[in-house]
Amino acid sequence: MRVAVIGAGAIARPHVAAWTSLGAHVRIHSSHGASALARAYGGTAVDTLEECLDGVEVVDVCTPTPTHAPIVLAAAARRLHVVCEKPLALDHRTAAGLIDACRDAGVRLFPGHVVRYFPAYAAAHRLVTEQGTVGRVAVTRLSRTTMTPSAPWLTDPARSGGVLVDQMIHDFDFARWIAGPVVDVFARLTGGPPWTGHALLRHESGALTQVTGQWGRPGTAFRTSFAIRGSSGGLDHDSRDTAPLRWEPEPPADALLPAFDATGSPFRAELADFVTALRTGAPARVTPEDSLAALDVALAAVRSVRENRPVDPKEVAA
Ligand SMILES: NC(=O)c1ccc[n+]([C@@H]2O[C@H](COP(=O)([O-])OP(=O)(O)OC[C@H]3O[C@@H](n4cnc5c(N)ncnc54)[C@H](O)[C@@H]3O)[C@@H](O)[C@H]2O)c1
Repeated sequence: MRVAVIGAGAIARPHVAAWTSLGAHVRIHSSHGASALARAYGGTAVDTLEECLDGVEVVDVCTPTPTHAPIVLAAAARRLHVVCEKPLALDHRTAAGLIDACRDAGVRLFPGHVVRYFPAYAAAHRLVTEQGTVGRVAVTRLSRTTMTPSAPWLTDPARSGGVLVDQMIHDFDFARWIAGPVVDVFARLTGGPPWTGHALLRHESGALTQVTGQWGRPGTAFRTSFAIRGSSGGLDHDSRDTAPLRWEPEPPADALLPAFDATGSPFRAELADFVTALRTGAPARVTPEDSLAALDVALAAVRSVRENRPVDPKEVAA
């Protein structure tokens, strides 16, 4: 497979490494850093977007969020399949427009919600939604702590959406994956900088999800956790633990330990899933509509902070 990776910053690194390990021929175009990235992880750096898109099958968009739309549209106009980092865009209309443009061009659009490919999150989804391990989901708590990003565009809410959109969209997507559609979001933002976002989601099912997302000080260690509680049990995960999942109160007698490869890169698993979906025509684990719905929850959180009230994600889609 011939792939064009656009951008050569933080997230392009694991993408290029994953594509290379999958045996893809990678071409990289970026306003900065393409040659260094190609030297470190493989691929060939090229100077222009046009040259990069020439003759490839897939375009992988790893540039700042405000630049996603023109690059995705250029790819769709050339009938090229698209992988696009989350969030697709900073507003509903633009993101929906990208989904429409890819569909109209007859190409696939794969949004990069890599959390669905982290082993503990993938296993929890399987156990909760396919095997009914915890019964009916009642309450989920999700937390994510990362360093405040160093790129200036990321700490500018006008260009990244801030922590509520850029970082917490990961857990908003996971919350929907576990507990279904969201009816409203009540959010708060504390600190500043470093920022911490807090959001309470009410799901159509009656379940509640509490999400905390922190952009910590320089040197803050990456840490994620979840606790899922249902009518007949629960599951816990903390990235600091050596065990990927803990059962609450104890595993059901017939429970199988989740089988997963805890050593592989989730980015490799994500891109491999997209390649399989492309080859078979089957849906990928995350769809463009999932990505749009997660964006709507994030935008509802932003509006909730601004207006100090619960916000229905449908309001930001209007
Ligand atoms: N899935 C994840 O876990 C995850 C993590 C970090 C970032 N992201 C997302 O990935 C995207 C990129 O974030 P990042 O942290 O890598 O940013 P970054 O600032 O580290 O890197 C952006 C790169 O794009 C290049 N670039 C900027 N504008 C360009 C343009 N018009 N054409 C070509 N190249 C251009 C820059 O030179 C830089 O190499 C964002 O949408 C972000 O939200 C996702």
